[in-house]
Amino acid sequence: MGCVKRALIVGGASGIGLAVANELLGKGFVPVIIDRSEPVQQFNDVEIEFCKTDLSFFDEKLFQDFASDPSITSLVITAGFGRVAGVGDLSIKEIDNLLEVNAAAAIKILRIFWNRITSSGTFRCAVMASIAGMVSSPFFSVYAASKAALWRFCESANAELATTGNTNRITCVSPGHVSGTGFDGGEGRSTGLESFAKEFVQRMSSCEELWVPDADGVYSGVIRRYVENPIAFGLESARYKIESGRLGGGRKPVIGYCSGTFDLFHAGHLHLLKSARCLCEELVVGVHPDASHKGKKTFISHEERKAIVESCRYVDRVIDAPREDSTAWELIHYDRLFVGSDYKGTERFARYERELGSKGVQVIYFPYTEGISSTQLRSAIVSGMEESAR
Ligand code: CTP
Repeated sequence: MGCVKRALIVGGASGIGLAVANELLGKGFVPVIIDRSEPVQQFNDVEIEFCKTDLSFFDEKLFQDFASDPSITSLVITAGFGRVAGVGDLSIKEIDNLLEVNAAAAIKILRIFWNRITSSGTFRCAVMASIAGMVSSPFFSVYAASKAALWRFCESANAELATTGNTNRITCVSPGHVSGTGFDGGEGRSTGLESFAKEFVQRMSSCEELWVPDADGVYSGVIRRYVENPIAFGLESARYKIESGRLGGGRKPVIGYCSGTFDLFHAGHLHLLKSARCLCEELVVGVHPDASHKGKKTFISHEERKAIVESCRYVDRVIDAPREDSTAWELIHYDRLFVGSDYKGTERFARYERELGSKGVQVIYFPYTEGISSTQLRSAIVSGMEESAR
């Protein structure tokens, strides 16, 4: 039986990662694509694995399992995102996500694979940084900061490898502009990126520490100008972005909202919040002060219910829910409204579909978790108390 070589490609569902997956496939590797969404390309009849995960919820166990699998002989990390926007236009959550996905998650994965990278055998490894990690990048500030962190990490880790005489290296790929990528306004398909991916894999296979594509043509000049006068460089770069109309473009993070009473927090609530967070980048949850709108009484105080919901890892922010979710939209301008399917077809949600739909808001229903509800729990507690009083 032949020995299968698998290559883990984190962020391989589109763009450069997908092009690298195709290149590695052509070289006899089985690509294992890790991404938050399905690959944009169909791999008909070709052996390829896909594993869905959101790097902003780092799944340590998932990566540990891959790292301890000897059939994985290469690791490529291309996951990352950014948007051209001023510092004041970034939400705190967006800053968190940028630093987590672009830098912290990549560094954690490399740490988990460190035993493999430092092993005596060959282990191929490459990460995608950016020229923005070397120079200032106004209106792309946190992206630049995240890529600088990743770049410095790779340099430091490679120096540690060199001191032990190990010849494996993390190839830090730091391009400037790559046409055809999502950053270039492309749709993320890998066509047009074949030659880039070919050179990417070549550089990784020869354990190069750093590859700045088109360094001789453009980017060594860019870095020189930055080093000579960082202030003038920053000003010129800011002016260029403003004058070329690149400001205000890019996709803003998707904000989701759901509201509820969340009395006696249970698995139905948890499923709803987890499913909701998978479909947005910032989940705001409105907790109703009481259950009078449903003609019910809560067991747990409003403050405690809010604290419990806030401590759930899928929830980014908790607010006092206004009576109507449409009023909450006036406050936070969310993009998606989530609710359990028990509300589908109600007068209230039919009205939201109309009113909020006209504002571009999607109303998304998740299957109601059968067999559990706060009402059920409350009556179980009451009958238990009655029982013991007898
Ligand atoms: N939810 C769910 N599955 C359940 C219970 C609730 O999907 N088993 C969803 C609801 O559809 C709603 C959200 O969780 O979108 C908050 O619901 P909430 O009214 O707080 O929960 P219930 O347990 O239904 O409360 P009660 O029994 O007091 O009506």
